[in-house]
Amino acid sequence: MNIVIEKATQADFDAVQKFTEKLNIDIADKYDHTVNKQFVYTDNGKKYIEKVLNNDDSVVFIAKTEGKAVGYILATIEKIGDFRTIHSKSEIDFLWVDEGYRGNGIGSMLMQSIQTWSKEKGVDQITLYVDHSNIDAVTLYKKEGFIISELLMIKHIQ
Ligand SMILES: CC(C)(COP(=O)(O)OP(=O)(O)OC[C@H]1O[C@@H](n2cnc3c(N)ncnc32)[C@H](O)[C@@H]1OP(=O)(O)O)[C@@H](O)C(=O)NCCC(=O)NCCS
Repeated sequence: MNIVIEKATQADFDAVQKFTEKLNIDIADKYDHTVNKQFVYTDNGKKYIEKVLNNDDSVVFIAKTEGKAVGYILATIEKIGDFRTIHSKSEIDFLWVDEGYRGNGIGSMLMQSIQTWSKEKGVDQITLYVDHSNIDAVTLYKKEGFIISELLMIKHIQ
């Protein structure tokens, strides 16, 4: 399978919206029922996608095969205040590969593209949140050299 990784532009808005919807449905159904499956169709959701596609401090890479978009990754650079001794980090907000294309190295290629972009941007570290039971993703991240750091604890009170 010939996979090409391309930096997304405004022309990829619909693909990014669709991938993010699929990811949010998957996460809401499997891991976190508080995720809004329709976020990308809200005004704030559309503004968010516009912003990440048109801002130097964020990036979307899309994986394509024979011209067809089959996965994406989205990351944003965050400045870090004086509390820490590092200055900035990129946070991977979304990663998705279409079901029929998984297991072909596309997730790894997308992760590599963010690492290369982040190094070029001079950021100090890359972070991401993932549900602890999302074994496919956790295994991929560990393979890419990520380690488990903080533990988010939640108590639902309503
Ligand atoms: C996680 C995801 C992006 C992986 O994409 P992918 O293209 O299948 O990943 P790759 O083929 O590049 O696999 C890379 C590594 O990930 C791990 N991995 C991927 N799928 C796995 C599976 N089903 N079981 C165990 N490990 C898996 C393996 O370590 C694999 O390396 P290997 O093939 O040498 O064993 C994909 O499963 C996906 O889109 N999942 C749903 C969305 C999601 O959970 N996103 C992350 C939210 S934080």
